[in-house]
Formats: sequence, C-alpha cells, structure tokens
Amino acid sequence: MCGIIGYTGTKKASEIMLDALELLEYRGYDSAGIALSDEAGRGTRITKCAGRVKDLRALCEKEDVSGCCGIGHTRWATHGGVCDENAHPHRFGKVTVIHNGIIENYRQLIEKYELDGKLLSQTDSEVVAAVLSRFYEGDPYSAIRKTVLKLKGTFALAIMFDDIPGKIFAVRNVSPIVAANTEDGAILSSDVAAIVPFTTQYFVVPEFHVVCLSRDGIEMYDLSGDKAYIEWLTVDWDVSRSDKGGYPYYMEKEIMEQPQVIKDTILPRIKDGKPDLSAEGIEDSMLAECQRICVIACGTAMHAGLVGKSLIQAMIGIHVDVVMASEFMYNDPVVDDKTLVIAISQSGETIDTLEALKFARKCGSPSISIVNVKGASIARASEHVIYTNAGPEIAVASTKAYTTQLAVLYLLTARMAIARGLWDEAQTQSYMSELLRVPEVMEEVLSAKEEIHHIADTILNAKDVFMIGRGLDYSILLEGSLKLKEVSYIHSEAYASGELKHGTIALITEETPVIAVVTQDKLKSKELSNIKEVQSRGAKVILLIKGDEVLEQEKIWSRIFRLPVMADEFMVMPASVVLQLIAYYVSLDKGLDVDKPRNLAKVVTVE
Ligand code: F6R
Repeated sequence: MCGIIGYTGTKKASEIMLDALELLEYRGYDSAGIALSDEAGRGTRITKCAGRVKDLRALCEKEDVSGCCGIGHTRWATHGGVCDENAHPHRFGKVTVIHNGIIENYRQLIEKYELDGKLLSQTDSEVVAAVLSRFYEGDPYSAIRKTVLKLKGTFALAIMFDDIPGKIFAVRNVSPIVAANTEDGAILSSDVAAIVPFTTQYFVVPEFHVVCLSRDGIEMYDLSGDKAYIEWLTVDWDVSRSDKGGYPYYMEKEIMEQPQVIKDTILPRIKDGKPDLSAEGIEDSMLAECQRICVIACGTAMHAGLVGKSLIQAMIGIHVDVVMASEFMYNDPVVDDKTLVIAISQSGETIDTLEALKFARKCGSPSISIVNVKGASIARASEHVIYTNAGPEIAVASTKAYTTQLAVLYLLTARMAIARGLWDEAQTQSYMSELLRVPEVMEEVLSAKEEIHHIADTILNAKDVFMIGRGLDYSILLEGSLKLKEVSYIHSEAYASGELKHGTIALITEETPVIAVVTQDKLKSKELSNIKEVQSRGAKVILLIKGDEVLEQEKIWSRIFRLPVMADEFMVMPASVVLQLIAYYVSLDKGLDVDKPRNLAKVVTVE
C-alpha cells in the first residue's frame, strides 16, 4: 500500500515524480505529495494535498517545484484520516520522509522521545521523521541505523536531509523498494512499474540495507556499515504492457490480455507435451512425497487456490486446505514437513500471506509460491517460485493475475499426477492439449464481449446480486462476486446453490438477479433444480452454461450466455472471463473509477 518514488539526476524531478505517481496510484489514492531537495540551499520544499495525483499536479502548477532531486508519495490511509496534514512527505527538523507500511510502536516512540504536541499530523510516519531527526548529527547512515533499530512494524522509507541536497536515502523492512540507475542519475520506487520508463535493469533493496541515490549512481550498505553487493534483475515483460494500450481502463486491457499471458505462463513450462517445472527447481520427489497441501492466500488469489483444491483433490486424491492467510495464525495451523505449502500472491507482498508462509517454513513445510511480481518478498521467502508471466497488473481488481494463477495450478496438478505415476501418456496428452486450448477459448469469449455487455446491463441498477453454483462453479463465483462488489459497489454474494435453501433463499425476491453457472456435467441436474428454486421465487436468472448443453426443461433463465466447450475441469477459464467482463461493464456504465475502486489499494502490506 502507498506508492513511493524517488529521483535524483539532471531532469526536473517534479515532472518525473508526478508521472511516476500516476503509475503508482493504484497502490493508494487518498492523498499525494512530493518533496524537492534544493541545491541552492533553500532547504527541502514540500507540496502535498489530500486527493488524487491530478490534484497534486494542479497544486504543483501554482508552486515552485524546481529541482532535480525529490521524493514522492501516494497514500492509502492507515494511521490518521485523509487530509492535507496527513499526506506525505513529512518533515521534522532537517529530515523529510515518505513511508509505506505501519509503525506499530509509534505511540511508545512518541512517549520515549517526548514528541507529544510537536507533531503536525496523526500519522505514524511523521514519528519516524522525528526520531530520525533526533538521531541526525550529520551522519545519515548512523541516524538511519539507530532509527531503524527502534522501529517495530513494516516500513519502506525514502529520506532526504536538508543539508545533503541531491541525495536520497532509503531503507525497508517487508514493504518493498526497488531501485535503478537512470542515464543521468538514479531512481527508486515501491514498484517496478515506475522504473520501466527509464530502464529494464533494477534491483530489490534487501531488507535492513541502506541505499543512497545520487547523480553518480547508487551505493548500498548493510546496517553494520559494510558495503553490500547489488543483485541486478531484468524486467522481462514488454514495456508497452504497462500503458493502457488504447483501452479506457487498465481492467479492460488486462482482461483482454488474458489469452496472451496464459500462453506466456504455460508455454515455457511445457516440454515434449508434458508440464515441466525443472527451471523452477521443483523436483518430482517434492510433489510425490507430500501427504497434504495447504494453500495460503488472500482475496482473489485465495479464490484461485479453491480451484486448485478441487483440481488436486479430484486428480491426485490428496487432502488440500485453502486457508485465508489473514486467518492462518488464528486457527493453530497444523503444517509439517509432509505438508506442501503453496502461497499464491499477485503482488508477492501481501503481508498476511508472507507471514503465514514464513511460519509454515519454520514448521519445516516444503513451499512453492505462485507470484506475479519478480523478486517480491513472498517469492524470496519460499523455497521455489513459479512466476505467473502476467506482466504488470495495474487495475486494482485482479483479472489476468487470477487466470494465470489458475494456469499455474493446472500445470502443477499435472506435474504432480505424473510425479506420482497416476497418469499414463494418453491421460497426460488429453489434459495438456485441453490446457493449450485455453487461450483460443478465452479469445472466443472476448470476441463476444458486446453480448456480455448487454447481459451486464440487466444488473446495472440492482441492489443485490446473488451467484449460485456447485463445486468448481461455486469456486469461480466467489471470485465473480468479489469482482462485482469491488468495482461496481453492488452487494453480491456467491452461494453454493445447495446451501441456498438453508437460509439465504429468504433474500430472493421478485426480480432479484441471480447469476447461475452450470459447467460440470456431474452437477448439472442438481444445479438446474436449484435454479428452478430461485426462479420460482421470481428471481431473474442469468445463466452461464456450456454451449452444447441441451436444456430440456422449460425456460429457466432471463438471459443466457453459452460458453465455449472444454473438458469440465477447464470450464472455469472461459466462465471466469465472462464474470470479469460483467463486473467491468457494470462499473463502466455506472461511471465509476473502474481501476481505482474506493477504499482499496493494489498491494496490501498491512495486517
Ligand atoms: C481483488 C484483489 C485482491 C487480491 C488480494 C491479494 O481483485 O486483487 O483480493 O487478490 O489483496 O493480493 P495478492 O495477490 O497481491 O497477494
């Protein structure tokens, strides 16, 4: 949460930072601000306000924002409401700070350093500026070291000192910072997206290391003051993928990219017609020897895990738990060296998932993470990582990251079946050829997007929408419902259709829209009966069903979308795309900010 940018070089820093903050805005968009370091000895100047980056841009037009070195921030409020004072940067004495994360002991620090009455904001971040200022006697490294040792919590800090113009210092714990050289200086950010316009070479600042950016480049030291080695990485996605590519919103662009990114995710991992995870260092023995699996993830990623559970339990026959990472620690988790832990995360930074993964590793569990962002904390904390090659996902609502997570879970399930000797050549071939059909089937759904748009019109003014299905259909509806809630603000609930009659059916009234998904042959007759139950109570049913399905009963739907046909276990792929498009069009037609729904942020680094 919160986007961080820092630039020092020969160009106008405010322009670079404002452009970068727009790219980072999906991380948080309550308020924004920049601070410029002044080589003319005028100290550090701060411009900040509650609101979006466009409001900051307007403010910058009225103020003196000259200077070639600065730090900038876009905020997702945690401590302190949304107001100008709480916007970052924060300044105390000669120190200016921007912060991403949460300082848990900020109250104790206020008391210890007698800061009560001396702070201008209600944020934990200003406390860090004050503590840094207390320790600063001309040596930035010493002040940072002493401060960091006093902090409890998570932080990515970018810091400037009034009397060291042209230099930016940064340090982090858990919350991410990446840094890179530019042709005229250096840049840092909480996310590679802001660095890509300048270079494809970057590095992830290791935890508890201090980096110093200047026009001459970057230096890095560990907390004991020893120079540290920088491990450079290369951005390996197409740079053009980080703009909107002519679409009105990133969400639409990212939905449309799915056939390509699914190919990018699966093709490099198929050798001789078989799934191959050897490049990830995943040995068959690991997949063959585990006795159970525990998937930890949050939100959409957790919903991907639920699909994975159905696949693995059906095809491998071992027990799979899917645990919300935020609840993991409160249920006295039972994981051991026979439990393969799979952590799923687009950002690779979700703190609940990261902490749960670390706990499982301490218990001796072998681990694989499925992550989109290269070098992210969860990727580094797990034994093996399978990257979803989805490219940058900018819209807050996850779409292509979800389906590429599913694609990886299909590969993993197949490799596990082979590793355990469960499949013969013919079974492997038929499964893999179906997996390879996913991109073209998705294309088919995407080419029907106007038809789906018309279907979305029918729920535009709904107050509540219910979604019903069983088994795999239910798993994807949980995700479809989350998508609709987050981008359209329509209350929606996914219900296992058999469970509906145990209470929730009381909420179905005349005209309530109910989206029903029927893609599993073995569940079809029961699912159709459940649809009749809601229809006979007046519900308006939107039915998503396999294209070749013959419906013998009387008409049970108000709207129908016929999905391209795949083997049942793969039907989640086309059906998910339809649900994504329904959510997208409802949000679009309501005139909402599709990519930045209220109260949300793309990366959740607070517990
Ligand atoms: C919803 C969404 C969230 C994330 C969740 C986990 O569209 O994107 O529910 O899935 O916050 O985030 P990651 O995958 O980054 O761990």
